[in-house]
This record gives sequence, structure tokens and C-alpha cells, in this order.
Amino acid sequence: MEKLVVTGPTQLKGEVEISGAKNAAVAILPATLLIDGVCTIENLPHISDIEISCEILEKLGAKITWNNKNSITIDTREIKTTKAPMDLTSKFRASYYIIGSMLGRKGEIEVGMPGGCKLGARPIDQHIKGFEALGANVTVEKGKINAKAKKLKGAPIYMDIVSVGATINVMLAAVLAKGTTTIDNAAKEPHIVDVANFLNTMGADIRGAGTDVIKINGVEKLHGDATYSVVPDQIEAGTFMLAAVATRGDITLKNCITKHLESITAKIIEVGGNVEDNIDSIRVWCNKRPNKAHIKTLPYPGFPTDLQPQMGVVLSLANGNSVINESIWESRFQYTDELNKMGAKITANGKTAFFEGVKKLSGAPVYCTDLRAGAALVIAGICAQGETDIYNLQHIDRGYEDIEGKFRKLGANIKRVTEE
Ligand code: UD1
Repeated sequence: MEKLVVTGPTQLKGEVEISGAKNAAVAILPATLLIDGVCTIENLPHISDIEISCEILEKLGAKITWNNKNSITIDTREIKTTKAPMDLTSKFRASYYIIGSMLGRKGEIEVGMPGGCKLGARPIDQHIKGFEALGANVTVEKGKINAKAKKLKGAPIYMDIVSVGATINVMLAAVLAKGTTTIDNAAKEPHIVDVANFLNTMGADIRGAGTDVIKINGVEKLHGDATYSVVPDQIEAGTFMLAAVATRGDITLKNCITKHLESITAKIIEVGGNVEDNIDSIRVWCNKRPNKAHIKTLPYPGFPTDLQPQMGVVLSLANGNSVINESIWESRFQYTDELNKMGAKITANGKTAFFEGVKKLSGAPVYCTDLRAGAALVIAGICAQGETDIYNLQHIDRGYEDIEGKFRKLGANIKRVTEE
């Protein structure tokens, strides 16, 4: 079994390069199924969700060449099956994007229910509602989703809930549909814009991505023959920004889009940190104990739920008492039990957690309960006195490229070791 051993405390200092966005990349890869051609995708994060996405595409018939660890060339001219491999699709959430893409490309797909982090109920009713509005017949039976359509037809779709996954999935299905689709109450996250930009580069006609109304005019064919670079990861950037504050360090993040980080920047300033916006890089530093703050997670441009646990580490160490209200996921406070093992004083009750700020954390053996919880534990370990052993690294490896290498470069005493 692998674990991360972190010995702290360390004030992080230096520069870190932000990777491509996981949540954009895991949608762009299945989106290549809509292309009857060859394309190259660059700035892919080197993480296990991407490796599994590539394996699924290969099982469906795509031919993938790795140009280097962050770039692939993918040939999707021949798709030989409409059955996605259940063992692989159950490993992560974004495997549901195969449905929208394959409905568009082949009018048919059978796929297992998606896996992913256990953050509470994760229904896909809005995805199904969208596919049905476009004329597909969707059934869910024995853990499998079957979707079929003779020819998808554009339609107006109103999302009852702001959903990243449903917005992207319906957008994928609508690209090759006949006529115009509008998605009302669409999610606005940067990765939605990135997937739309990718598809438009390949010949799609999508307008309004990044606003709450997206209009997709169906086209006959996507052409490929282009190279696309994935947008920088907003959540990885936010993780390092919050690490700078929690450790009272001074970090410059390279390869990031500061516009995507505004909600995080605002909260960092509120807790007493400093942020210098240099357009494509951002410097964050903090030279005092953070102030208390109240956080409510919201869809973009609100404070992202995927940075809530990392912010939880900052508030654990703040001067005063703070509250986090998690409005997206039911079970996103599992990490608080782990932080409490390190001396934090957090009481979580349903979707609300109360943080009584403590002066210091101390090292302890802790377990990642999900991907972002894992990142929070790494930050906590760097802040804590003594040794923190972090287990269940498969969660972290799903979404962070070389997390220990990046933190080590910033001065952290962190290593990955294999335990009997
Ligand atoms: C995506 C992100 C995830 C992030 C989340 C919210 C990916 C691969 N994952 O997940 O990291 O935490 O956005 O920013 O991009 N809902 C329904 N019905 C649906 C779909 C969603 O009720 O059909 C609800 C969910 O239960 C949740 C809320 O809508 O309460 C938001 O979910 P959604 O935006 O769809 O999250 P994901 O796309 O799964």
C-alpha cells in the first residue's frame, strides 16, 4: 500500500506550474468520439482519470498515440462497438460523457452507471431528461444505462438544476443533432466553455457557453485535423492558492487563468491573505494567522465545492470561528473527521460545518475519503507539527498530477512510500 509521508510544518515558497483541467479533459476525451477524423489534445493532466478515459476510448475503437505524458493524438474514424466497458466506466464519474458523445456519433450506447467520489446522491436525471428531449430512448436497468435514438433532433431544454455534467452531456449529444438545441439554466464553469471551444475548433456551432443559455446549432460532421490545448485547472490552482494561505507561504502559480480564480481570490483577501494578479500567473502570500470567514459553495462563479475541503484547512487554523455551508453535495464533510484527528475542532452536521480555529495542527495517520479531501489532507500535513501519513492515495491520483513533486518543489517535506 502506498502512502504519502509529510513532515511539517513548512511555509511553502516558490513557483508551481498548473496542469490542464481534469474536469475539462475528462469531457474533451469522450467528445473526440463525435469526430470522424484525427486530432491532437495537449496540456492533458497526467492523472489516472485520463488514463482510464483513454482505455475506454480504445476499447470503443479509437486509436491513441501518446506524444508525451501530456499530449495525445487520437484517431476516432473507426468506432467498432456501442458497448462501453463496465469495469472501466464504473471507476469515475465522467464516464457518463460517453453517453452524449456516442448518442451523437452512433445513435446508441450501453454503459454502466458512473462511479466517482462518494459525495452523496449523484443522480443523472437531468442528463436523461436532456437526451429524451432530443429524441433518445433511455432506460436504466441492472446498473446499466441504455440510450438509443434513430436521429437526434434539436430541442429547447430547461435544466431544473444547475449541473455541470448534464450541461456538457446534452451539449455533446446536440452537436450532431438535426436543428437547434437551447440549454436554459446551463452551468457556467470554465470547463464548459473549454469543451465548447474544443468542439467549435472541430467544426461544431455552439454559442453562449459560459452563460446560462447555450445554443447549439447541429452540424453534419466534425472534421478533426486540429490541435487543442486543455484550459488550466481552476481547482488545482485554487488548491495551491489555499495551500499558500494555510502554510503562511508565498507561491506564484504559472499557467493559470486568474479570471477563473476570482471567488477564491476574494475569500483569500477576506481571510487576510494577499493576491497579485499577473493575468496568466498569480502570486499568493500570507504572513499572519488567517481570519475567520464564512463560505457557501455555489455553482460558478460562486465559491467551488471542489475547493471547500482545502478552504476547510485554512479555516481550521483561523483566528476565530467560521462556518462552511456546502450547497452542492450532501456528504462533503467526511474530511473533517480526519482533520479532527490532527487537532482541528470542526463539528459537521449535514451540509453545514462549524470551525473553531486552532493555533496548530499535529501530524497523524489520516485517510483520503475523496479526491479533494485528499488534497486538503496534504495541505494539513504540510501545516502540521510532526509526521502525517496519508493513505488511500488512489483518490488523489485520480485528479492531481504529481502532487508530491509539485509540493516538494515548493519546499514541503513530502514523499511517497510503499508500505507492506
Ligand atoms: C462536476 C465535477 C465535480 C464538481 C461538481 C460541482 C466533473 C467530472 N466533476 O460533477 O468535481 O464537484 O461538478 O461543481 O466535472 N444533479 C441532479 N441531477 C442531475 C445532475 C446533477 O440532481 O442529473 C445535482 C447533483 O446531485 C448536485 C448538483 O446537481 O447536487 C450539481 O451536480 P453536477 O454539477 O452535475 O456535478 P457533476 O457534473 O457530477
